[in-house]
Amino acid sequence: MKTFLAFLLAASPLLAQPAADPRIESRVDALLARMTLEEKVGQLNQYSARFDVTGPAQMQGDRREHLVSGRVGSMLNVTGAEATRQYQEIAVTSRLGIPLIFGFDVIHGYKTSFPIPLAEAASWDLEAVETSARIAAAEAAAAGLHWTFAPMVDVARDARWGRIMEGAGEDPYLGSLVAAARVRGFQGGDLAAVDTIAACAKHYAAYGLAEAGRDYNTVDLSESTLRNVVLPPFHAAVEAGVATLMNSFNEIGGTPATASRHLQRTILKGEWGFDGFVVSDWGSIGELVPHGVAAGARHAALLALTAGSDMDMESGAYLAHLAALVEAGEVDAALVDDAVRRVLRVKHRLGLFEDPYRYSDPEREKRVLLAEPHLAAARDVARKSIVLLKNEGLLPLAKDLGTIAVIGPLAADTDSPLGNWRGRADAGSAVSLLEGIQAAVGPGVTVRHAEGAPLVVGQSSGFAGLKFNTGDRSGFAEAVEAARGADVVVFAFGEVGYQTGEGRSQVDVGLKGVQEDLLRAILEVNGKVVGVMMNGRPLTIGAVAESVAALVEAWHLGSQAGHAIADVLFGDHNPSGKLPVSFPRHVGQEPLYYNHKNTGRPGPSPMVFWSHYADVPNTPLFPFGHGLSYTTFSYSEPRLSAEEIERGGELRVEVTVTNTGERAGSEVAQLYVRDLVGSTTRPVKELKGFRKVDLAPDEARTVTFTLRADDLAFHTASGTWEAEPGEFQVFVGTSSADVKSAKFRLR
Ligand code: NOJ
Repeated sequence: MKTFLAFLLAASPLLAQPAADPRIESRVDALLARMTLEEKVGQLNQYSARFDVTGPAQMQGDRREHLVSGRVGSMLNVTGAEATRQYQEIAVTSRLGIPLIFGFDVIHGYKTSFPIPLAEAASWDLEAVETSARIAAAEAAAAGLHWTFAPMVDVARDARWGRIMEGAGEDPYLGSLVAAARVRGFQGGDLAAVDTIAACAKHYAAYGLAEAGRDYNTVDLSESTLRNVVLPPFHAAVEAGVATLMNSFNEIGGTPATASRHLQRTILKGEWGFDGFVVSDWGSIGELVPHGVAAGARHAALLALTAGSDMDMESGAYLAHLAALVEAGEVDAALVDDAVRRVLRVKHRLGLFEDPYRYSDPEREKRVLLAEPHLAAARDVARKSIVLLKNEGLLPLAKDLGTIAVIGPLAADTDSPLGNWRGRADAGSAVSLLEGIQAAVGPGVTVRHAEGAPLVVGQSSGFAGLKFNTGDRSGFAEAVEAARGADVVVFAFGEVGYQTGEGRSQVDVGLKGVQEDLLRAILEVNGKVVGVMMNGRPLTIGAVAESVAALVEAWHLGSQAGHAIADVLFGDHNPSGKLPVSFPRHVGQEPLYYNHKNTGRPGPSPMVFWSHYADVPNTPLFPFGHGLSYTTFSYSEPRLSAEEIERGGELRVEVTVTNTGERAGSEVAQLYVRDLVGSTTRPVKELKGFRKVDLAPDEARTVTFTLRADDLAFHTASGTWEAEPGEFQVFVGTSSADVKSAKFRLR
């Protein structure tokens, strides 16, 4: 396994925002000079394949005609070497023969499914994250694709928001590193290579901060939060060379992101020097009308193009109105040229002008999809993503137990582990937990299985809402019998695969259906219960966490989920995952995040007048950064290289981590900082570093973090990005809530 990963990563030198290639620039200019206004607008128009269409044979009417006449620059949702080739054949018959760029949501794998992005972030393992994106790219590219609408780098602080599953969680620092790793993984060292694809950092910006966690809802935030929290992962993606960005559905402070000149022109293309293109989100240019800032599609096209949205995904507003707007002098022709130049530049970088079919090779497609090393990597990344939330000593399990009862609505589910946004993974193709356990244990072990109760009634996929089972307890008796007398019960519960994702916000993030009743019934006959939770968002599981002897956060882990979980349950892999997101005690705490502000009344106080709830503590059930191991670790006090550092200087923070248990294990040591007095209020803690250390029993290692004065910079009250002199606290520990601290000054 190691060798394969090493090979993949060796093939991917770090990629930075590419310096403009003069050869590409002059070819782009030459082509631009030959294009009619209509053809230019065509490059900014993106269509989706109809979902019932499997190839261009059925593609009739206007849209076919638009392809032939050069009025389409890109398509999404066309996949497969054959289908992409057929569409491309039509497109290159247009007057200038400009190839299409094919985009698709390759979010956590194409055919081989990797853990959902939130889960992968729990690995805190950037090499694993990069590997997963690298393999997803190799498979997608073999299926004729050029471009993925990933990574989603939205900081998400609200478990109600269904799309929290698609990102790296609540922290901008971890989110930035993961964003860059994913970009490197998808794009490799050379965009033109046949196993790499262009990445797309989305949704620019602040989509993850929707009011009340309701998808597509209003966002209103300060420039300070925008700069300090929301933008860093986008900036990191740009610095890593991301080829494209997607803007977002939400408004920010009264301006829809799609019409935001501040975001797209001033910051992205101005301050950051981004030279790729921005695609709108699906129909988001048309949505400027219901947002109430555009009077109609023509007005919407004007606002979006002027603000810097380069490509129109599926609203048709550019195709219908942009040429007329230029001719009427309402949109500057130079802005259209700039947008087209950006699109053509990326097509050149992908090598599409050399060979528009270079990615569409059916032989390669057969060879690459679901290749054995891809499945092995999916298993490895999956087990690294698992977080051990609680263990009273029941885990790891012995492989020669007499009887294991595997119970619960998700125990034999071969579909939910694929999660949402599953690319072209085949429905029902994941290894279930039951299958994983059966494959792991010896022949002498009896594995009993009972579902107990379904979680969802009716269909659980596609675009419709879910209907949860609220009344059917008819399987409880069988489940209780299976549990009775078993040496251990493994209880699989949580969320089905389509319960999170776009349009899947919930006001209640507790367990749906009758899952808690089922667990209670089982606990009456057997107290040795290991909870295995499969989910795409933090859930309020206080009662469950209290009642089970061990609790494993197993997310939606992809194709190899069952094997990966079994690896952890039986101790073949010692868990080292850490939560990338806080788990609330109650949904009313949301949005809940560790790097909050202190307020003027942080308390606690014996009086009621401090910032708290009367009924539930402020703290999370499981904090950001939490995750146990089958061994234990102790931390020394942090040792600082100096009490004071200069601007431009650096501080070394050392800590000794010791494995105090009886097994080898890996620990993610975390470094946080607090800026005690600032020109604006500062978070009570901010992650600024982490390191994974492998330790044998009794082994101690010194972990050294280097903190540069620049790492302390933030968006100050005067609008600058800089570190302010003063006193800082530095914390080192095993989670955001379990740390040791010291102080230093910045001069
Ligand atoms: C809408 C989603 O918001 C976006 O993330 C996705 O890439 C597009 N649809 C295309 O599927």
